[in-house]
Amino acid sequence: MTEQLIKQRLASLAAKFKENQVDGIIVTSTSNVSYLTGFMGHDSWALVLGRRIWLLTDSRYTEQAKTECPACKIIQRKKTLAEEAAKILKRNKSVNKLAVEDTATLAVFAIIKKHIKLKFKKTSGLIETLRTIKSDDEIVNIVKASKIADASLDQVIAQMRVGMTESDFAGMLDYEMRKRNSIAAFDAIVCFGSNGSRNHHFPGPRKLKKNDTVLVDFGAVYKGYRSDKTRTFAVGKVNKTFAKAYETVAAAQAAAIDLIAEGVTLKDIDNAARDVIKETLFPVYGHGTGHGLGLDIHEQPFMSPIAKGKLKAGQAITVEPGIYIPGKFGIRIEDDILVTPAGHKILTRTKKSPELKIITI
Ligand code: GLY
Ligand code: MN
Repeated sequence: MTEQLIKQRLASLAAKFKENQVDGIIVTSTSNVSYLTGFMGHDSWALVLGRRIWLLTDSRYTEQAKTECPACKIIQRKKTLAEEAAKILKRNKSVNKLAVEDTATLAVFAIIKKHIKLKFKKTSGLIETLRTIKSDDEIVNIVKASKIADASLDQVIAQMRVGMTESDFAGMLDYEMRKRNSIAAFDAIVCFGSNGSRNHHFPGPRKLKKNDTVLVDFGAVYKGYRSDKTRTFAVGKVNKTFAKAYETVAAAQAAAIDLIAEGVTLKDIDNAARDVIKETLFPVYGHGTGHGLGLDIHEQPFMSPIAKGKLKAGQAITVEPGIYIPGKFGIRIEDDILVTPAGHKILTRTKKSPELKIITI
């Protein structure tokens, strides 16, 4: 991360300090620490006062932090993170009120209050709101994460064999991503056959049959940024209901993607996909149609029937409708899309006219 980029982010955050009448913030959320400092490790906080920033970390991470955080003063803690923050604040006597993220646990807030005798303001989404609009560098990272995921999936598909388990598939996918210097963005969801109706199924011992279906929902990480995509495909022959449901999900996804543009309501995006399925006899999915992604796999904005707000240019979002019939099958298709001033751009590889991919192994 360049020093210039961090400085831009700190300038945007400083404007929020003014709005919230605070002098700075203690950042305890790992992804927010990464966003403001460039640090990709864990168990560390950032302290921001005006436009100055400290990374509070421990000896496991100091060397890494020196390369990752050109704009930060790095503190290798001797005591707790809260005590190290308190030491800095004692030297900065003009600081009166500090923001604390509402995502901090009660235990973390208790330890902050114990050691830092200042006024606090609980704030919600101060940094998350900045994170929702992606810079060009961030988009490049999401695209790269998507390409790693594509290449890894292609490789696993080439090695698929009747008799392999869902767990084998997930492990092979993890290994393919590792070979590409990446890791899984989250625990891969791999479902054979009827397990596909379990939206977040944990891959298990179910073996692949000669005629079967596969739903795989996974992503890779590149420089901290995540991709998230779902593909459903068939092995051998597929029945007519499954093929019809697949076409319906593809049409629902296309309807939502077509609508994506700055200013469109999140609810309208959700409805566009859901309405296509409502017109058929297939059941309408219970989850949201999509979500933002970046340093976290799920971040603002969220598209659902109860969503409030509108799309903004620079947001990276998923669109992932599905049809799930317990005991029979599940189908979901998911791609990552960038909202642009002119409309949108699909970031993940996708076919022009989505068709059920039938693989013979
Ligand atoms: N793609 C899985 C999820 O968004 O929950
Ligand atoms: Mn998703």
